[in-house]
Amino acid sequence: MNKPLHVVILAAGAGTRMHSHKLKVLHQVAGKPMVDHVLQLAQALNPAQITMVYGHQGEQLIQHFQDQAVNWAAQQQQLGTGHAVQQAVPFLHDNEDVLVLYGDAPLVQTSDLTNISNQQFVLTAELSDPTGYGRIIRNKDYIAAIVEHKDANDAELQVKEVNSGIIQAPADKLKQWLSQLSNDNQQQEYYLTDVIGLAATDGTPFKAKLLADANAVKGANDMQQLAVLEDLMQTRTRQQLMQAGVNLIKPESVDIRGELNCGKDVVIDKGVLFEGKNTLGNDVIIGAHVVLRNCQLASGTVVEPHSMLDGVVSTGACSIGPFARLRPGTKLASGCKIGNFVETKKTTLGQNSKASHLTYLGDAIIGQNVNIGAGTITCNYDGVNKFTTTIKDGAFIGSDSQLVAPVTVGENATIGAGSTITKSTPDNQLTLTRTRQKSVEHWQKPSKK
Ligand code: UD1
Ligand code: CA
Repeated sequence: MNKPLHVVILAAGAGTRMHSHKLKVLHQVAGKPMVDHVLQLAQALNPAQITMVYGHQGEQLIQHFQDQAVNWAAQQQQLGTGHAVQQAVPFLHDNEDVLVLYGDAPLVQTSDLTNISNQQFVLTAELSDPTGYGRIIRNKDYIAAIVEHKDANDAELQVKEVNSGIIQAPADKLKQWLSQLSNDNQQQEYYLTDVIGLAATDGTPFKAKLLADANAVKGANDMQQLAVLEDLMQTRTRQQLMQAGVNLIKPESVDIRGELNCGKDVVIDKGVLFEGKNTLGNDVIIGAHVVLRNCQLASGTVVEPHSMLDGVVSTGACSIGPFARLRPGTKLASGCKIGNFVETKKTTLGQNSKASHLTYLGDAIIGQNVNIGAGTITCNYDGVNKFTTTIKDGAFIGSDSQLVAPVTVGENATIGAGSTITKSTPDNQLTLTRTRQKSVEHWQKPSKK
């Protein structure tokens, strides 16, 4: 039977090389703080407890995770990874297995940590350039010791297998080993890695578990390394999408900062950026240089190039863009068309309704088969309050009209071009507010004096 799991996340590092007011582990990879990736990994393992070790600017971290069930262990001074885990000891129960993760190493995946038969292991990786990492001194499948780069001799420096930093051990034994650590080394730190040597001496050595993707050991200490993590994460996400059948025409130009779920035969063109949680139905086509944030687009929806969609829901196949800006609360039924230079906000369009050019629709409820002429504006704001415009089924709004909310345009009503509508208009009739056209006879153009 498996013991309860206790995950300890080390996040006390100062992160000085980021040159930022923001705590290092709160810097983002793929649209999410690094430490969020790590916490999600921890939660996916179904642990009995999670303890986070914080130090420098820890209040930012506690604030960030205020809604999470996490124990907080303070590490006042950063005296090493072993010292950091020692701070979590008061929370560790003897019957638990303890897994140590690093808050600044967000590329480790659940699959790296499941199906490991041994309860006491170190995740390791083969690196062509192991500079800076702790070296794994093996005894077959087991580890005799881990030697830090700065403490290693010439022979040890040749070893390409490195410590990821992620280890798991039974709590009772780990506590014993932690209590025996010393800081008698190059960095005068209490190394967590010395636990591995102590365990071997005790006759209960750690097993080495090689990571499938060696890049998963990588962490970020500065902005350049953060960019490397971003790149690795994006590459991984794109590969997963393509393996699932999504057609990325120029994969390396597409960024997914968050979660993207796609149906079948989705095509994504060059330079598209996804933020937050997006869901695309079958046959959706996203044109070049589109930005999608928290959108749900139904099967068959087409977004033409250079459009920005934020919080948009389409419930049937629609056509959007090019150059459209759709803001939160936009809901489109099947057959809708939103054309170029159209902005929408908190607006619903019924089936087959169209706003093809140069229009602002805000706080509007628009029925089916409505045609919104070019240059139409819903005047939804009086400078203090917002009001709703309602346009009933089959209405036709002539070009360059202003609808001053609150106002309702009747069913099958027509609004003459260039009208300023301030009162609700009847069904089926033409309403217009401009003066009748006249021509002035014998009119003289002004001449230069
Ligand atoms: C550590 C390992 C090394 C491994 C490498 C992988 C030790 C002694 N060395 O080295 O074998 O190859 O990680 O990246 O464990 N931290 C604290 N408190 C501290 C010190 C560190 O919370 O006092 C946290 C850091 O915030 C970071 C993690 O522990 O998340 C690793 O610390 P870092 O100093 O980057 O370890 P390395 O020296 O790189
Ligand atoms: Ca260090």
